[in-house]
Amino acid sequence: MDSATLHKDIDSFFDSAPPLKDSAKITDKLNQFIQFDSPSSEGKARVVCVTSGGTTVPLEQRCVRYIDNFSSGNRGAASTEYFIRAGYKVIFLYRRGTCQPYCRSLPEDPLLECFELADASDFRVRQSHSEAVKGAIGNHHAAVAGGLLLKLPFTTIFEYLQMLRIIASSMRSLECRAMFYLAAAVSDFYVPWKSMAEHKIQSASGPLDMRLMQVPKMLSVLRTEWSPMAFCISFKLETDSKILLEKANMALKKYKMHSVVANELLTRKEEVTVVTENGNISVCRDKTRPGSDVEDPLIELLVNRHSTYIKDAST
Ligand code: PMT
Repeated sequence: MDSATLHKDIDSFFDSAPPLKDSAKITDKLNQFIQFDSPSSEGKARVVCVTSGGTTVPLEQRCVRYIDNFSSGNRGAASTEYFIRAGYKVIFLYRRGTCQPYCRSLPEDPLLECFELADASDFRVRQSHSEAVKGAIGNHHAAVAGGLLLKLPFTTIFEYLQMLRIIASSMRSLECRAMFYLAAAVSDFYVPWKSMAEHKIQSASGPLDMRLMQVPKMLSVLRTEWSPMAFCISFKLETDSKILLEKANMALKKYKMHSVVANELLTRKEEVTVVTENGNISVCRDKTRPGSDVEDPLIELLVNRHSTYIKDAST
């Protein structure tokens, strides 16, 4: 696709999107977060935008039905914890209701399962969950109070892409200290807002015929226009291992990414391959350590590559 057609598609996507609620508030929060610098960072803080969870495509304006993209948000939440440990400030752009940083060791319904009634007027943490709850609260509080974590939720593809654009332009001034780590599962097709039914589609009208437009890939404009100096990592998810690396390589070149993390649905928690222009690097979870994450060595590798990128840019 030539650049003029891509820009036309992007303009028509944003023109057709319902305006983002609270966009001025989000911009203010972002600017404050990015400008707040702890004394230890000496004005050189690195900021990463981690995207996480899947976007939805509403089928009705007063939405009852939608198409969803699979992602539990585990990758984004775990990666956020390791980026913060490495000293990064993280803008966590996540799908409402998906996995959150520091909550991965809590049970599925933390409120009902972690707590018990002490008596009619008081409740307490169950002994069996007290370490996990203390860790989650302590780490989360330290990250937020230390200005290292800003969480911004989205649900639809319209919200996600509008927020990504605002984040990218807020991070522009950081130049090469900015990083994008795009782990969200982003919809490929959408119904333009203006041609979408307002009310619930009636099943009595018979089979549903619906034409979905292609969501323009924003990766190349993010890379070349929205935040051109940022270090950009995208993800490639496939279920067929035979085509995975080839597709990741294509994305690396086509969208001028600095690396593409290739993963297969079934093994995504065990291993990933980081595809770069100098070759592929396989990254595995340390199986000798129970409870270890593949994100631990993955983030270490990406942080090192980002350091080299910053060093090269300054010489
Ligand atoms: O959340 P978990 O359950 O832990 O699973 C993690 C994960 C498998 C979701 C994650 O590791 C992952 O692979 N995320 C990307 C999934 C995806 O959308 O892959 P894709 O091949 O369809 O897209 C590739 C890249 O293009 C992505 O970085 C995406 O942000 C971007 N994209 C996709 C569609 C689109 N219209 N515009 C985009 O910019």
